[in-house]
Amino acid sequence: MNRKSVEMSKLSLLLTMMMATMAKSASLNYSDALTKSILFFEGQRSGKLPPSQRMKWRKDSALNDGQDIHMDMVGGYYDAGDNVKFHFPMAFTTTMLAWSVIEFGDKMGSDLQYAFEAIRWGTDYFLKATIIPNIVVAQIGNPNSDHGCWERPEDMDTSRQTYYLTQNKPGSEVSFEIAAALAASSIAFSKTDGQYSNVLLTRAKQVFDFANNYRGSYNDSIGDGVCPFYCDFNGYMDELIWGAAWLYKASNDQTYWNFVKSNIQSIEFSSIVRNINGFKVLANGGSFAEFGWDSKHAGINVLVSQSVMNNPSNENPFVPNANNLICSLLPNSPTKSVTYSKGGLLFKVGSSNLQHATSLSFLLIVYARYMQANNKEVQCGNVVAKPSDLINLAKTQVDYILGNNPLGMSYMVGYGQKYPQKIHHRGSILPSIDVNPKHMGCRDGDIYFQSSAPNMNVLTGAIVGGPADDDSFQDSRYNVSQSEPTTYINAPFVGVLAYFK
Ligand SMILES: *[C@@H]1O[C@H](CO)[C@@H](O)[C@H](O)[C@H]1NC(C)=O
Ligand SMILES: *[C@@H]1O[C@H](CO)[C@@H](O)[C@H](O)[C@H]1NC(C)=O
Ligand SMILES: *[C@@H]1O[C@H](CO)[C@@H](O)[C@H](O)[C@H]1NC(C)=O
Repeated sequence: MNRKSVEMSKLSLLLTMMMATMAKSASLNYSDALTKSILFFEGQRSGKLPPSQRMKWRKDSALNDGQDIHMDMVGGYYDAGDNVKFHFPMAFTTTMLAWSVIEFGDKMGSDLQYAFEAIRWGTDYFLKATIIPNIVVAQIGNPNSDHGCWERPEDMDTSRQTYYLTQNKPGSEVSFEIAAALAASSIAFSKTDGQYSNVLLTRAKQVFDFANNYRGSYNDSIGDGVCPFYCDFNGYMDELIWGAAWLYKASNDQTYWNFVKSNIQSIEFSSIVRNINGFKVLANGGSFAEFGWDSKHAGINVLVSQSVMNNPSNENPFVPNANNLICSLLPNSPTKSVTYSKGGLLFKVGSSNLQHATSLSFLLIVYARYMQANNKEVQCGNVVAKPSDLINLAKTQVDYILGNNPLGMSYMVGYGQKYPQKIHHRGSILPSIDVNPKHMGCRDGDIYFQSSAPNMNVLTGAIVGGPADDDSFQDSRYNVSQSEPTTYINAPFVGVLAYFK
């Protein structure tokens, strides 16, 4: 080839690549993804399903929950691919759904009503879990018994033990998180249902008081009911501050602001090496970069920054630490502490990596909006980050998840042409009651788990744990970390998708 034809073929290669990229981007439909991300929550519903249920292959389940302690604990969500109701991650999920509506509800269009339904499915249940003063129901279902069977939720005959907290056996992390969920939801409902909003706020305050007056970790009160599943690895002080921050935002009551201010030092400047989701993490001198069902730190700083940005006497440590979070994420920042795969997906230590990509994308967009409103930039060493840089980074994550990645694969079930077919999820793998109405016992599901066929039911909208850091994905039911969906991967993504829609 002469020089000219080399140049020409380079050009045509470039054009082909550009067109391929454009074709890929053009095929992303954020509106469709938003609808599906909310629909997913119907697939995780426990209890008596309403006539409005759209995910039809799911049926009523766990209708006797709470009976062992003479309480009505019917409802709520299964957290992931099993049939246990773990209230700690369920409450965080509800908080994030509410925050999604608070920030981005006005962009949700006809999906807003479903987002409200998804929140209410959580809050109605938490009102039941906290109906008796100084008792908080923290979990339903014995996880060891549940994990020993591969059963549809509709068939469950495993132990549905109710685990609850009292003054003598407290659990401050889960109680504070329930208070946060109720307070955030009271804000979300304030414009459309003032009465319900008031009920939620009143209860949030009661539950906060219980968590605060009787301090302790549910690790110790419930023991192997929660550990090693949703053990509280990093303590409950972050949930105390997070709960107080939401209560302050919901009530404007100065008492809660004082809680935030007088306790924030205890989490920001404690240990350098932190135990995050069971992994020891060296967190660049603080825990400002962590956000998930266990660790609320980064969320606290971003949330509180909204009201203290441009108020120098109150900015510290919230705004500096939120800025540190941003600098720990941006690919060109000198203090970046996350890694990116070749294909551009953000990675942190731990399992179910997409939980980090969705929750951090949420914080990036929310913080970018607060920066915009206050005309701010973030300085990361010699790099200046504008709000648009944060939003562009979040968009790369969203687009990767929806299919702009080396495998051309969507990690949201039922979205796009190519998505995970063998997710680790009992209800999705097993035939539905419509197909097989006969009761299926503890191990009757094994043949479906072991089969090479795709799952029987499409759990539309579920985002799975996601690919490995070399952008590969096994699509195997055995690879739990890659193929299991969870409610707390989806919840922040609801807000993110509404923004990009
Ligand atoms: C996006 O998806 C929605 C819902 O499936 C559909 O109604 C709409 O036409 C799609 N938009 C585009 C541009 O394809
Ligand atoms: C809960 O238990 C885990 C695992 O044993 C431990 O690492 C963690 O420190 C405990 N958390 C609290 C708050 O006691
Ligand atoms: C899941 O997949 C990843 C990446 O391919 C691999 O490193 C890991 O060992 C797999 N885990 C299991 C349990 O198969």
